[in-house]
Amino acid sequence: MEEPAIHQFDFALINEYFTELQRQGPGSPEATMKALSFIGNFSSESKIADLGCGTGGQTMILAQNTKGTITALDLFPGSIEKLNATAGKLGLQNRVKGIAGSMDNLPFQNNEFDLIWSEGAIANIGFEKGLNYWKGFLKKGGYIAVTYESWFTDDRPAEIEKWWVDAVPEIGTIGHNISIMQKTGYVPVAAFTLPENCWIDNYFIPQQPRQEEFLKKYSGNKTVENFIAFLRQESELYSKYKQYYGYVFYIGKKM
Ligand SMILES: C[S@@+](CC[C@H](N)C(=O)[O-])C[C@H]1O[C@@H](n2cnc3c(N)ncnc32)[C@H](O)[C@@H]1O
Repeated sequence: MEEPAIHQFDFALINEYFTELQRQGPGSPEATMKALSFIGNFSSESKIADLGCGTGGQTMILAQNTKGTITALDLFPGSIEKLNATAGKLGLQNRVKGIAGSMDNLPFQNNEFDLIWSEGAIANIGFEKGLNYWKGFLKKGGYIAVTYESWFTDDRPAEIEKWWVDAVPEIGTIGHNISIMQKTGYVPVAAFTLPENCWIDNYFIPQQPRQEEFLKKYSGNKTVENFIAFLRQESELYSKYKQYYGYVFYIGKKM
């Protein structure tokens, strides 16, 4: 039987699993700050959007290293509740506001933002479609910074090719993605690959106790067993094929 892709699992189940984790995708505070270093010039008037923010791992780093206000948006209300609670604990509630919503139907004004951020989430709308649609909400000269699954080589083994094409049908090489950024009306400013620790230490390892907990809580539930098997396979495939793919930060400036 074919293995299911992650989007074929129940949305509520995926979110129950991931909201207890600090991150819902690969990344790190260092990578977020490195991407920010290509941007700069924030004032207390600056407006930032963080799309597909999850529970806000990167949102808090953005808030602590910029001025201005951040609107963080995610489809899952449970993640937004957690993000707003964290912002409160860190004293950032006046500058960070989490809202539930969809990245393909944004409740914002045209030309509203100085910066649109999105880590590990643009594949949900599509890289090209997201860059095009989100550009309308950026001021002229505003910046976009996204991480996106990318091939590091022109060719790769069939097993990993199939896995990623099932998950992200338009997945492309770094050069291809930079050309899409340029084609959609941005000047490419920088692109860099996320180091392995973003996947291993911050994404796969923190999931291990959560997987045990989940299997115990849902003992005998076939959907949960398949979901955890899928996540474990994701981690095994990364160990086996990490020279062929990863997340890449793409930073662009709206023309
Ligand atoms: C891989 S996680 C990344 C979360 C977070 N940015 C991080 O790096 O830890 C992708 C996020 O996108 C959210 N998402 C999926 N589809 C979405 C949509 N249509 N609109 C808004 N958020 C969406 C998911 O709920 C999830 O929180």
